[in-house]
Amino acid sequence: MELTLDRVTKHYGSKIACDRISLTLHPGVYGLLGANGAGKTTLMRMMCGVLVPTFGSITYDGIDVSCEDYRDALGYLPQEFGYYPEFSALDFMLYIATLKGIPKLRAREKARELLELVSLEKEAKKKIKTFSGGMKQRLGVAQSMLNDPKILILDEPTAGLDPKERVRFRNLISRLGADRIVLLSTHIVSDVEHIAGTILVMKDGRLIHQGALEEIIRTIEGRVWECIVPQALVDSLCERYPAINMRQEGKDVFLRLVGDEKPCDSAIAVQAALEDLYLYYFSEVNAK
Ligand SMILES: Nc1ncnc2c1ncn2[C@@H]1O[C@H](COP(=O)(O)OP(=O)(O)OP(=O)(O)O)[C@@H](O)[C@H]1O
Ligand SMILES: [Mg+2]
Repeated sequence: MELTLDRVTKHYGSKIACDRISLTLHPGVYGLLGANGAGKTTLMRMMCGVLVPTFGSITYDGIDVSCEDYRDALGYLPQEFGYYPEFSALDFMLYIATLKGIPKLRAREKARELLELVSLEKEAKKKIKTFSGGMKQRLGVAQSMLNDPKILILDEPTAGLDPKERVRFRNLISRLGADRIVLLSTHIVSDVEHIAGTILVMKDGRLIHQGALEEIIRTIEGRVWECIVPQALVDSLCERYPAINMRQEGKDVFLRLVGDEKPCDSAIAVQAALEDLYLYYFSEVNAK
């Protein structure tokens, strides 16, 4: 089972939303990380066959994703998912099952099973308008699984979840990734920290890194700095280097910064961590 992207590119007029992305996915969980506008949704929509690339190809075991058969293998949770507030969770599941052409009896059985999987079995008869953000997201994942997809594409499934819901969600995704390709996008590094075997980092339409979390963190090794500087230097340093941490130390200020070169004489390079990663790659301040 293999999903292959070969130089996938999308232009919107003169805007290049995805730029020559090549990638091969196997069963497992992939975390697509990128700031707002990086091109995550554009890429995912192309991977679902709902948006046609300007250049490049996407194939599933050699078959183009625009092919009908691919739809049967795919589950998709769009970023802007339209729920029907007056529907109960169960009715909603049955409705989506009808759209997917799943026979009635099978649909009922599958809907129950999936609501249980996402821990919504007790809420099956409740109207969606009474659901929390996290409950809706879990329902969104449940509907994407109705056709038992081999490929599951979830666009920011953790948006709006509280910490408890995040944990539940992660556990659910880990289980789903055991025997299928799961790709989820987020801009929260910690959402994919424990569950994604492979992290894909996207910036300005390009795939700038892919690998295990440790490998990605290694790319910023030697680029994380700590220093104690006089108050007068803080502003100019922070304008040039994204600051992860800042605290008053007597008259001076302790700073943790990211940047390619040593920000000041007294700075020492320190071990890189997860939160540094995000700032290094996605901060508005130009770290590179
Ligand atoms: N239909 C469209 N027409 C023109 N430009 C578009 C269109 N859709 C997206 N874009 C642009 O393409 C770029 C990538 O957008 P995309 O929605 O893929 O990013 P994203 O990584 O999903 O962002 P977010 O984290 O905000 O969801 C952005 O600059 C966006 O403005
Ligand atoms: Mg998006």
